[in-house]
This record gives sequence, C-alpha cells and structure tokens, in this order.
Amino acid sequence: MKAVVADGEQGIEYVTNAEKPTLTKGHLLGRVLHIGLNPIDWKIAYNVPIPKGAIGGTDFVAIVEEVGEGVDASKYMGARVAGWVPGFFSISGSAWAEYVCADAKLVYLVPDSISSLEACTLPCALTTASQGIHQRIGLPLPRPDGSANPSRRKWFLVWGASSAVGQYAVQLAKLGGCDVVAICSDKNAEKIKKLGASFVFDYHDCQVVEKIKQATDDSVFFGFDAISLPQTITKCIMAFSLEAKAAKLITVLGPPENPREEAVDIITAFSFSLFNEKFDFYGETVQGNNEDYEHTTKLFEVLPTLLEKGIIVANSIREFKGGLEVIPDALREFSSGNHSAVKFVINV
Ligand SMILES: NC(=O)c1ccc[n+]([C@@H]2O[C@H](COP(=O)([O-])OP(=O)(O)OC[C@H]3O[C@@H](n4cnc5c(N)ncnc54)[C@H](OP(=O)(O)O)[C@@H]3O)[C@@H](O)[C@H]2O)c1
Repeated sequence: MKAVVADGEQGIEYVTNAEKPTLTKGHLLGRVLHIGLNPIDWKIAYNVPIPKGAIGGTDFVAIVEEVGEGVDASKYMGARVAGWVPGFFSISGSAWAEYVCADAKLVYLVPDSISSLEACTLPCALTTASQGIHQRIGLPLPRPDGSANPSRRKWFLVWGASSAVGQYAVQLAKLGGCDVVAICSDKNAEKIKKLGASFVFDYHDCQVVEKIKQATDDSVFFGFDAISLPQTITKCIMAFSLEAKAAKLITVLGPPENPREEAVDIITAFSFSLFNEKFDFYGETVQGNNEDYEHTTKLFEVLPTLLEKGIIVANSIREFKGGLEVIPDALREFSSGNHSAVKFVINV
C-alpha cells in the first residue's frame, strides 16, 4: 500500500510498497480519509533514528472496513472513526498510510455534524489536554447534556491557548467549572474568548504576568502550559497566586525547572501513556498506563455527543490536497512553526 515512512536518515519518504497492517484482536482496520499533523510527528521524524520503512503518523479519520475479534461489527463496520496511534513506534499500525489498524476503544465515532477534516484535529491534542485537566488536576469531564459543571470559583491559566492542545485546554477547563485566563497572540484573542476564556492577554506583552494577576485578583490556582518552553513555564509559575499551595501546572514537555516548588506542583502530561502498549520512546522503554487508557475510552464514548451539540469545538484547519505524497512537504512547513491557531490536515 501507499505510505509515508522513515527513510533511515532522520527524514521521511513516500513509498508505494508498504505492507498493509494485520488486523488483530480488539482492533479495527480502516481506510484512511484524512490525517492531522502533530508536532510529535516532525520531532520524531527528524530527530530520532527510526528504522527505515517504519510508517509514521498519529491523528487519522478512517472508514472501518474490517473488525477484529471482540469488536462490535454492528457498531463499527462502515463507520467513520477518528483516533490516534503512536506513529513510528506503533506495533499495530500508523496513520500515514492507506490503511490504519487501531484499538477499537481508542477511536471515536465521528458525528455527521462535523467534517472528517475537523474530526482529525481532535484525537492527540484533545487527549493530551484531557489527561492534564481531568486526570492530573481532577476537573470533571464535560457533561453530555451541555449543562455546566459546578463552578470551582478558581481561575485556570492556559498559556499557548491558540495552539491545537491549548484550544482544547481552554474548553475543557471552562467546561470543568473554572474561569479561564488565556495567553496567545492578540490576533487570536477573539477566537479564544469564543472558546470560553474570560480574559486573553498577549504573550509578547512584557507586562503579561502582571496583567494575569490583576485580572484574576491574584487567584490563579490551576494552569496548563501548552508550549512549555523554560520561559513560558517560568511565567506561568510567576502568574500563580501568591497564596498558592500545592497548586497545579500541567506542562506538555518536561521535566522542567520549578522556581516555586513549595507553591506549585508541575505535572507533565504524556499522552503516549494512553496506549496499552510497551514501546521504545527516544531510547527509553515506555509502558502504557491502564488508567490513562480507560480514561481515554470514557472520553471517546462521550465525545460524539459533545461535538454534535457544539459543546466542544474543533480546531480550525488548513487542508492539504494531493494525498499521502504531500506529507513530506506539509510536515516540513509545519515544523517551521510559522502557523497560528491552525491544524494541518492532509486529504488522503
Ligand atoms: N506531552 C504530550 O503528550 C504532548 C501531546 C501533544 C503535543 N505536545 C506538545 O505540545 C506542544 C503544542 O502542540 P500543538 O499541536 O498544540 O502546537 P501547535 O498548534 O503547532 O502550536 C502553534 C501555536 O503555538 C503558539 N505559540 C508559539 N509560541 C508561543 C509562546 N511563546 N507563548 C504562547 N503561545 C505560543 C502560537 O500562538 P500564536 O499564533 O497565538 O502566537 C501558535 O498558535 C508541542 O510542543 C507538542 O510537541 C505534547
């Protein structure tokens, strides 16, 4: 089959002779319609010595053509599903291919109300935000009937709110009962307010920490740093309340320095842990975590309703036509980091 694979020299290439994945128990085999790019795709493709021929790719939307033992055929055969797979590390199948094999409990059924392009912006980014906000901080999942969770009367800071992960973090924090103060470029402020932020400040403003403190009456107790550079983590930490004790900041890269250890716990989200698999990650053996797996299955069960009712809104997209062949160029452009508040999606 056609696929995009590691070229063995820290790059990727389009091939036409990749092996179709083998369907296994509990999994489904789908014909891939769309692929969403994530930073982890280029970070691994360009920096990690991946064996030549390993297929890459994380987020996908596919039409199910076969189901494995133990999978409800009446629910999944012919269905449009979205999910993500651990790319080059996957032992069952990766997304940059004509066919993907995925754990049936780690996909969600795409409701008719959203396009396949929008659907494939969600899996990796949303599960990362959810792991941080629901599992590590402990806010409740959004209610499928759209009713509000009880107010926590707490401010939640989202840094990098216009990023793919950040946009979902804003929505989940708000739906979890917090008031949200969000940080992104001014040009994206209106978009992020529409997603639920009460205040939005620009990270280019040298007064940004003071502005957060002023707007929230110095009462930030939870945070999610979707950028997690040393300077963004420091600013987040400094923006937390002076009264903070065991407050929580989620980062997406780590482990970072913590200048206020006594006040704020820094917890690094690691979404690869949701796979019930063991794989080699940057030279370290990573074992999936069953709690993270079960949490994701719960999230994906409720997600179609949340999308149908417009309770969760997908990222904006930039569509790349031309099939799998365009992935090397699209990934190169994505890795340059010049995009803003947009997910790159490939039309297979
Ligand atoms: N740990 C995990 O499991 C996990 C999972 C997924 C992703 N990640 C990581 O999470 C990060 C975000 O991924 P993503 O897909 O959400 O990224 P993305 O959408 O590609 O991020 C682009 C956005 O970053 C914003 N940005 C850049 N520098 C910023 C800064 N200094 N302060 C605030 N915002 C800034 C830009 O905002 P403006 O345009 O508004 O300026 C832009 O909209 C990546 O490093 C990725 O590798 C980790």
